[in-house]
Formats: sequence, structure tokens, C-alpha cells
Amino acid sequence: MEVCKKVHVFALLVSTFCWHTWIVSGLSSINGVIRSEKYQGGLCSIFVQPYSKYNCHEYSIGTSDGFKLGVQRLNIPSFSKGPVLLNHGVLSGGDSWILNPPGESPAFILADAGYDVWIGNARTTSFSYGHEYLTENDKAYWDWSVDELAAIDLPTMVYLVNNITKRNMHFIGFSQGTQAALAAFSEGSIGDKVEKVALLAPVAYVSHAYTPIGVAAAVLHLDKVFQDLGLHSFSTKTKTGKQYVDMICAAANTRCFEGLTDTFTGINCCINNSRRAFYEKYETQTTSTKNLAHLAQIYRANKFQKYDYGLLQNFIKYGSKDPPEYDLSKVPKQKLFLAAGEKDALANELDVERLKIDLGGQGFQYLYKPNYAHLDFILAYNCKQELYDHVISFFENNV
Ligand SMILES: *[C@@H]1O[C@H](CO)[C@@H](O)[C@H](O)[C@H]1NC(C)=O
Ligand SMILES: *[C@@H]1O[C@H](CO)[C@@H](O)[C@H](O)[C@H]1NC(C)=O
Repeated sequence: MEVCKKVHVFALLVSTFCWHTWIVSGLSSINGVIRSEKYQGGLCSIFVQPYSKYNCHEYSIGTSDGFKLGVQRLNIPSFSKGPVLLNHGVLSGGDSWILNPPGESPAFILADAGYDVWIGNARTTSFSYGHEYLTENDKAYWDWSVDELAAIDLPTMVYLVNNITKRNMHFIGFSQGTQAALAAFSEGSIGDKVEKVALLAPVAYVSHAYTPIGVAAAVLHLDKVFQDLGLHSFSTKTKTGKQYVDMICAAANTRCFEGLTDTFTGINCCINNSRRAFYEKYETQTTSTKNLAHLAQIYRANKFQKYDYGLLQNFIKYGSKDPPEYDLSKVPKQKLFLAAGEKDALANELDVERLKIDLGGQGFQYLYKPNYAHLDFILAYNCKQELYDHVISFFENNV
């Protein structure tokens, strides 16, 4: 079996039995109930209203393929600087920028610095508004990957901000939010509306990721497995998802229960443990199996490329047998700021180094955080001094 052979290629998951069979038999007995993770009240009312100092407004913007994206605008009444758009990561939503109190959350830090802060929410996430006619029970609702986030969602949100403010914006992406941005820049779809770009824990390549979920997803051909099972979405919060995570943890010989988050993102230095229960109320969020499968393909192919539909479909869609690669040389590097963490299990240093080379090796700013793992970039209690003060001076420095 092809998958069994593959497993032995990857040291982390070398195993004496065949994973594919195990996963299929493990999951097929469970009814994959995909539950809505919507909350009463929008992002503004939950996270911003408790602090009366801020204005917050909810927007819903339709995409060309029928999704209704949520975008929230947050600022202090005396704000004086231009718009900044925040683009969140995978298995997450716009709330990830605002889970901590003022002084500790990126969204509040930027608003306090006088920025007009716009929080983006990708399709299907908790603080987006669903779809015109599809529901999460429809297969088509989950038929997307980072290609659509880059080609549709991000430009839609960029145009919304530009339309309302009549100004170009700065951009901050985290994790898959950086991947969508790099793809959009390489396709030339947002460059004329965006001034400066901060990419935190940037993800273009993932082949050196050592997080069990990423590696397992890649090695196990999660796409095929889940498609066989008819599971089009993935959440760590459903029974099926939990079982899947448990299986990965068991086989990767990792004690997930002693820090699920760290297992999947690296050892985060600066996350306030007494707030974990609060974080877990909102995160993680459901994503499409196709999105994870695409990440797995990028891992396996070791290329930053579009979704691989297989030979025939690739010809129909792309006119070539292989999916086209995103051309990173087209990313305007003179306005980039990259930040990477030594402890990051997802946006690994080696993959970031390769990204830097593809971006021309120089001409952008680079901040290396020896203590930071993946989630520290958005959740660390010291993220203002350690990171966002640097991002703000990058925005304000005119060189
Ligand atoms: C932007 O504004 C123009 C003109 O008002 C409108 O036609 C267009 O639909 C708007 N686009 C978005 C994404 O809001
Ligand atoms: C951690 O969170 C608790 C509860 O929200 C808070 O009282 C405490 O000040 C926080 N600690 C830090 C270092 O931010």
C-alpha cells in the first residue's frame, strides 16, 4: 500500500502498522457530526464592548462564490492613522487577534497606537456570516483551500477596507494568513491597495514543520482518507476530530493532554495559562479538509503550489499536469517585515529561511524571536514589547 510505504519515509511517524487502515477503521464507526461554532453576538459585542474606550463595527461582505465574510472595524474615537487589515491563521478566526485584554492583544495594541484596525475573517470561521445558500452540511461549503482564501477572500476584504476608508492599508498576517497574502501578492491581486506588510510566523513552505498534526496530515494523505469517509470539514472540537487528534498523539508518542496547544504549535513561551480555558472557548475553529489536504500536499511536494486535483483535473483547471507554483519573486519585498520564532513547530526556521531566499534574500526586515513558538505571535502577554512595537515602527518608518 502506497501510504504504508510513505509512512516510513518520515522519521517522526515511523510506525510498525499501517496508518491508513487504522484511521479509516477508527473513524468510520463514528458519525461525523459537524457542529456550528457560531456564538451569540458578534466579535465586537463579545470582545470589544467590555472596554468602552473603543468603537467597533461589524461588516459583512459577499464573495464572488457566495460566502458572507465578517469583517470588524475597531478604533479609538481619536484615531489618526490609516487602516491595518489583520488576516488570521488556519483552524482559527479573527477573534485570535483579540483574545487578550487591551495592552496584550494585537488588535487593541494597534488601535491604541492610533490605527484604524480591520479584523478579517475567512469563509466558514466563527465570526464570518456563512453563505448565501449553502450551509455547513453541504459539501460545497467546504470546497476550498488557501487558493480561494488568496484569490477571493483576501482581495474581497482588502477592497472592502479600501472602499470604506478610501485609503490604502497596512497588512498583518499570521500563519496561513501570511500564506494567503503571499499567494495573493504573487498573483498581483492586492498589491496596489496594500502599503506595508508584516508576516508573522510566515508559512509558504511547510516541509520542515514538525508539528504532529501537520506531519500526520501530510503522511496519512488526510485528503484521501477524509474524502473516503465523506468528511469535508475538520475540527478538533468534534468527537471525530478529537479521536483523530488522539490517534495522532498516540502514534507520535506525544502526551497531548499535557498541553495540546504546545504539541501542535511548539512550546509557546508566553501564553497566560490562566486564560487557556477562555481561549479554548473560541479556538480552535473548524476548517475544510481540503484546506488541510492542500497544506499536506505542499508538505509532500515541498513546493508552494496550488491545490493538486490530480492529473486530469489539473489539465482542465490549470492546463498542466502539475499544479502551478506561486511565484514568490513577484512579492514586493521592499515593503515586507517577517518575524519567525525559533520554537515554532509550524512555521519552522528552515522553511522561513527558504522563503527568505525566494523573496530575494534581502531588502525586507526580519525579526527573529528565539523564545517564540507559533501562538506567541498572537497570544503572548508580552507581544506588545516583543513584537508589535517593532511592527508599528516598521509601519511608521518611511525608509
Ligand atoms: C466598492 O465600491 C464600488 C463603488 O461604490 C462598488 O461598485 C463595489 O461593489 C465596492 N466593492 C466592494 C468590495 O465593496
Ligand atoms: C493572566 O491572566 C489573568 C486572568 O485573566 C490575569 O489576571 C493576569 O494578570 C494575566 N497575567 C499576565 C502576565 O498577563
